[in-house]
Formats: sequence, structure tokens, C-alpha cells
Amino acid sequence: MAESEPSPSQGDFIRIEGVTKNFGTFKAVDNVSLNIGKGELFALLGGSGCGKTTLLRMLAGFETPTAGRIFIDGQDMEGVPAYDRPVNMMFQSYALFPHMTVAANVGYGLKHEDMSPARRQDRVKEMLAMVQLSHLADRKPHQLSGGQRQRVALARSLAKLPKLLLLDEPLGALDKKLREHTQFEIANIQYKLGITFVVVTHDQEEAMTLASRIAVMDRGIIRQIGAPSDIYENPNSRFVADFIGSINMVEADVVRVDGETVEVSAGQLGAHVKVLAHGWSPGERASLAFRPEKVTISRKKPAGAVNVLKGKVQDFGYFGKDSLYRIKLPTGHVLSVNAVNAERVAAEKAVATWEDEVYLTVSPASAMLFRSEA
Ligand SMILES: Nc1ncnc2c1ncn2[C@@H]1O[C@H](COP(=O)(O)OP(=O)(O)OP(=O)(O)O)[C@@H](O)[C@H]1O
Ligand SMILES: [Mg+2]
Repeated sequence: MAESEPSPSQGDFIRIEGVTKNFGTFKAVDNVSLNIGKGELFALLGGSGCGKTTLLRMLAGFETPTAGRIFIDGQDMEGVPAYDRPVNMMFQSYALFPHMTVAANVGYGLKHEDMSPARRQDRVKEMLAMVQLSHLADRKPHQLSGGQRQRVALARSLAKLPKLLLLDEPLGALDKKLREHTQFEIANIQYKLGITFVVVTHDQEEAMTLASRIAVMDRGIIRQIGAPSDIYENPNSRFVADFIGSINMVEADVVRVDGETVEVSAGQLGAHVKVLAHGWSPGERASLAFRPEKVTISRKKPAGAVNVLKGKVQDFGYFGKDSLYRIKLPTGHVLSVNAVNAERVAAEKAVATWEDEVYLTVSPASAMLFRSEA
């Protein structure tokens, strides 16, 4: 499903074609090709230093690609300076003008627009209402909380109604609740204004909630591009599987292939496991992976199920909506298992507790096989 070099189509709002950025001998961005449609909320996701900000800066025109081409709205951006691009960027370390009020900060970028003062005022009001800060219009930045400041920066970058808005870690300073709230707000704003957003984040949950599509970056290259559910359910590599969400991963040997069913022997699990997969032959080495929430935990041995493992509850955390178990197998290997607490019971009455013997079941369709990577 995922591809690292999508075929360019004329309808795409942004086309990045074979873009590379070298800093001296260091390749910060390595031959990246990707297309973003009009009105998309696209996330660039990856660990620190993988090249996200550099790629964004090239879109904005603050950095020149060493090789490759960038098209925005059909126009080749080569030689087009930042201020002539239909783009606005909210920086990772956004800076508000400390001596200006919230309203003046938001209206700042509109000064150079051909706009009457009355219209400018209206636009500022509208933007402040959108980020729910109308009541703080006359405050100065130092009189705001970190989250409020961040929303002022967001309103300021939206005020010019750019065709393309680049957000670099826009929610970095917010606490979990406000982060979630603002994520919905951004998605809402995006929907209302139809602006194309590219959001950089190293927070995978944020990318999953916000974005219509995600590009997973790793050391300058794109590992996978897809809808959040694609990336999560069908990761194309061990790297992506491991990067997105939590996962149980063990080494395995393919022992038998029967149509779509691949049987592997996993020493760490002390068991053979059946996986729905294709393209494997007996004798190959693989990484066997399954996510904690795909494992069913029960105290009774499930009748007739395949891929049943027996273990003991070593550790168990109650998190309200779900519980996380650490189950120790007879081999000594420990698996993570997630169970939703659908019923209202006291923590100690949940499915299993310390030292309980339990059975774990993983359906062949929920298990994945990956080739080992360098
Ligand atoms: N001007 C520069 N000169 C030299 N190296 C640079 C320059 N800018 C960035 N780099 C290097 O390029 C790599 C990518 O940097 P970039 O800022 O794009 O990472 P990032 O993915 O945004 O990381 P973070 O999540 O930490 O913000 C890093 O190794 C960084 O040190
Ligand atoms: Mg960065």
C-alpha cells in the first residue's frame, strides 16, 4: 500500500520531487519525493534530527534544496523567495512580539497586505475567536500561559489565510488536555478554511489524531506514507511498526508456508505461531510482531483457538479506560498485552491480577512478519 515515491499528478497542491538537502557532507534530507493534495492535513513524523524542520524550511523558502524540485500550486519554487510564496510557517520556537498585545501580534502580518484597517480588525477578531482567545485580545504575551501563547502564534500564522500553512511542532508546549483540545481545533480550522496544512511532529499520537496522511521520516528519508490507519495496521517495515505505537517483536524462523498462512517458530515465545502473510519461504529469518491490544487475555484456555500462549501476570497497570499487562512466558520472555476495561469493576477484579496464570491468543491476521533491517 505504502510507497516512498508516489507518482506525481497534476492535481497535487504540493509536489516534492527528489529533494535532497546537504549541510556540508551531511545529508539532512535524502531524495524525498511526496505529493500533498489541496486541503490535506499532512503530518511529517519522525524522531529528532531526521530532517523534518529542514524539509519544512525548504517548502517555505528559507532553505534551498541541494537537489530536486518543489512545486506549490503548480508553480516551480526554484528562485522564488519566501515572501513571494503562498505559504506561512509557524516556527518550532515561535516568537511573539513581547511589547505588542495579543491582537496586535495576530494582526502583524496583515500590515503589509492591501487591507483597510476595519477589515484587518475584523480578521483579527475572527482569528482570535477561532482559537478561543477573544477575551485576551488586549493582554501582552507575558500575561499568557504557554498554551495561550501557542494559540496566539497559531492565530497569527492563520491570519493571512495562506494557501499553505506549515506548522513545526505547533503543540509542543501544551499539556495533554489542551493538546488534545487544540488538535481538534486545528482540524476544525483546517476544515473550515480549506487551507492545506503540513504539520511536523515527533509525537505519533498527535500525527494519528490530526492528519489525513502521515509521512514517517527516518534519517532524511521517507519510510512510509499513508493514512494513519494504514501506517498503524499495515506498517511496511520493522522500523515503522516499532516507531508507531507499541508492539511486541521477537525473532522467528519460517518453518512452513501453506497458502496465505505462514508458520514461524519463535524461540523467545517457545511456540510456533501462524501468521497471515505472503512472500515468505521456509528457512527465512523474520521478525514476528503483534500489537498489545491485538492480544486476547483470558483465564480459561480458549477452545479451538490457534496461537495460544500460556503465561503468568508479572505486572499490571490500571489506566482507567484500559489495563496494561506484562505477561511472562515460560521462556522468560515478557509480552505486553492491552485489555480494554469495558465494564465498571474495581481494579482488582479486572480480567487478571498478579501471578495469575493466563492464556494469550493472537489471531493470525493480527500478527505481522518483517524482514530484518540494517
Ligand atoms: N544549518 C544547518 N547546518 C548543519 N546541519 C544542520 C543545519 N540545520 C539542520 N542540520 C542538521 O540536519 C539534521 C536535521 O535537522 P532538522 O532540524 O531538520 O531535524 P528535525 O527532524 O526537525 O528534528 P527535531 O525533531 O529535533 O526538531 C540534524 O542532524 C541537524 O543537526
Ligand atoms: Mg525540528
